[in-house]
This record gives sequence, structure tokens and C-alpha cells, in this order.
Amino acid sequence: MRELDRLRLGVNIDHVATVRNARGSSYPDPVRAARIAQEAGADGITAHLREDRRHISDADIEGLMAHLSLPLNLEMAATSEMQGIALRHRPHAVCIVPEKREERTTEGGLEVSGDESRLSDFIAPLAHAGCRVSLFIAADPSQVEAARRTGAAVVELHTGAYCDARSDGRFDDARREFERLRDMSAFAHSLGLEVHAGHGLTYDTVRSISAFPEVAELNIGHFLIGEAVFRGLAEAINEMRRLMDDSRREAVSA
Ligand code: PXP
Repeated sequence: MRELDRLRLGVNIDHVATVRNARGSSYPDPVRAARIAQEAGADGITAHLREDRRHISDADIEGLMAHLSLPLNLEMAATSEMQGIALRHRPHAVCIVPEKREERTTEGGLEVSGDESRLSDFIAPLAHAGCRVSLFIAADPSQVEAARRTGAAVVELHTGAYCDARSDGRFDDARREFERLRDMSAFAHSLGLEVHAGHGLTYDTVRSISAFPEVAELNIGHFLIGEAVFRGLAEAINEMRRLMDDSRREAVSA
């Protein structure tokens, strides 16, 4: 496979911190998980510093920046507190996500359309500081077009609705979501945006998304950390990597 066709894997380590925080202990350590992910073939590490600090902490971000040689993708809400933190650390990438305190996880994409000028102003200093900024959006043409206008370099398409429909056995919904993701990957790429995807991906759903040639990176966390309980983190990641590579190889040679 040409390097151009290779799909990057960003391993999200938030839920290592969730387990740690459940007991208020110092373990398991997300930085140790990041090192194992690196050895297992991850191309980057993703961590979401939420406003309520329910999993990743400020100290985790410091530790990741200090001890990791892989690029860090810092997920965060578009608040001035988070902008200050990102500008202090200057991670490789910043992914801007919507955040509601009462939600269990990031439930939808950003409403970029209608909030473009605020987001453009928010992105500019981050881009100027050298961070590659992405916007986490639903696979919707108006959001893709609006994201393009903000000056973001990347969009990350929310795969949650597709994954939920697949796991609930709602196959018509799954097909519709799949087609939306496929079409918006191509559309975003045609506008010059780099395309990432993620949320809720598992061994069952990763193959179909990996086959989209425009997708450059997947960010995967919750399933991998759960799977690590049974087979260890390195092996869980190896298997994900293998499924991604097989799917991409088949798509490229088809
Ligand atoms: N991408 C983004 C932007 C996210 O917010 C998340 C969840 O934090 C993920 C990917 C990873 O989702 P999951 O943990 O369900 O694999």
C-alpha cells in the first residue's frame, strides 16, 4: 500500500482516565496507555479535556505533551479556557467538539453553520500557533460547507449515528447513515478539507468506514479500551489496525 493510501489510527485514551477516576486512584495511567498504543502502531493519541474534567485531567495533558513522541490530538470545546490551554501546549492537532455537561458522550456534531464567524475567530490563533484544527461535525453538506468557510484544515465526521444503527440492527438507518458518511467524505475532500472520522467505531463497523478513500484518519477509543480488558491494549489495537489496513487495501485495489 502506498503511504498516501494508508489510514491513520488515533487512539483515544479518555476511558483509561475514566477507570482511574472511578476510584480516585493514580492508576491506570493514560500516559502509559499512550506509550503502549504507540508501540502497537497507533499514529496518534487523542484525549478530550472536558470542561468538567470527568476523565482526562490537565495533568494528563501535561504528561502526554512531555512524554509522548506521537502527535497529540486535543479534543476540546470552543471556550476561552480551552483555547488558552491549547495555546500553552500547542499540540499537533486540536479537534473542536460540542460539549454538554449532562451528556454521557459527545452526542452530536458541532453546529458550525450559524456560528461560523465565532468559530473562525476561535480557530485563527490556534492555526497561527501551528495546531492543525479540525471540527467534529455531522455528515451534512451545510456543516461541511460552513466548516470550509471557518478556515479549519480538517473535518472529523461523526460516525455515532451509523454505529448505533448497526448495533441496534436498524439496517435501513445504517445504510442511510453509511451513504451520508461516504458522500460527505468525498464532498469535504473535494473542498480541500482533510477528512477524519470517529465515534462509536468497533471491529464490526471500522471496515466499512476504512474503505472510504478520502478518509485520512480514524479516532477510536471506547471500544478499544473495553476490548483491552479481555485481550490487552496492544492486541486490541493490533486487531483494529489489521481490519483498517485490510479494508483500505481491498478498497484501493478494487
Ligand atoms: N472523535 C471525537 C471527536 C470524539 O469526541 C470521540 C469521543 O471522545 C471519538 C472520536 C472517539 O469515540 P469512541 O470513544 O466512541 O471511539
